[in-house]
Amino acid sequence: MGQKENDVVIRDLDKIYGNLLKEDTVALKGINLSIKKGEFVSIIGPSGCGKSTLLKIIGGLEKLSAGTIEYSDPENRLGFVFQDSVLLPWKNVRENAEFPLVIQKKQTKENEEKLDALLDLAGLKEFSSALPRELSGGMKSRVSIVRALSYDAPLLLMDEPFGALDALTRDHLNIELLKIWSKTNKTIIFVTHSIEEAVFLSDRVIVMATRPGRIREIVPIDLTRPRDEDSRNDSKFGEYCRYLREIIG
Ligand SMILES: Nc1ncnc2c1ncn2[C@@H]1O[C@H](COP(=O)(O)OP(=O)(O)OP(=O)(O)O)[C@@H](O)[C@H]1O
Ligand SMILES: [Mg+2]
Repeated sequence: MGQKENDVVIRDLDKIYGNLLKEDTVALKGINLSIKKGEFVSIIGPSGCGKSTLLKIIGGLEKLSAGTIEYSDPENRLGFVFQDSVLLPWKNVRENAEFPLVIQKKQTKENEEKLDALLDLAGLKEFSSALPRELSGGMKSRVSIVRALSYDAPLLLMDEPFGALDALTRDHLNIELLKIWSKTNKTIIFVTHSIEEAVFLSDRVIVMATRPGRIREIVPIDLTRPRDEDSRNDSKFGEYCRYLREIIG
């Protein structure tokens, strides 16, 4: 078996939002996309091109209007990281991260140990008992990522998780995210507005266009892994960014 197995296969997907007062919105039209197991894929494109809609449909939070999606995981387990961290203000860091385990009644010793290892990996161990209001924006983002990883779903969907952060914190968290990704073998679908972020993180960058929301081009990113600060100085890194900026226009 030379080729890696697909994790998510999307065929001929359309999404139309009905609207009582004006014309329906064709948010997505004719999306065809296969994502491989363990792959890191980013989605970029102009505001309103349907990135969040596509992620929500993959995550089962929104219905599709036409087409099919197949998942390799029969239980279809996934984690979702939203743009704002949405932490429960009265629960501390560890309790927030543990929340999916509590809801799903999966607080086994093994899962609790994994959670502590993830908190450690994300540099949050010392802040386990801190409340969200005591955290910086970057720390909150890390808690929401650990929370999405806590029940060990094979697929992680991230909608601009670092969008609200300053460039330095974002660069730092990108490296942390890649570390976690390489240690946990997740498939990650990552929405961003930043071309640099997409290139730095991804195996492939999906470029979308608007009206109707569709895939314009898929660009494979052939930079060596593991990636670190130095990867940004690679001349190929700059070339990919320039090329993407050109097609996004
Ligand atoms: N619940 C909804 N009801 C009706 N229309 C919607 C709904 N959600 C999104 N839309 C429309 O669908 C289109 C795609 O929206 P979506 O939020 O997926 O875009 P996006 O690419 O994530 O944009 P951004 O980069 O600004 O986050 C837009 O025209 C938007 O107005
Ligand atoms: Mg969006």
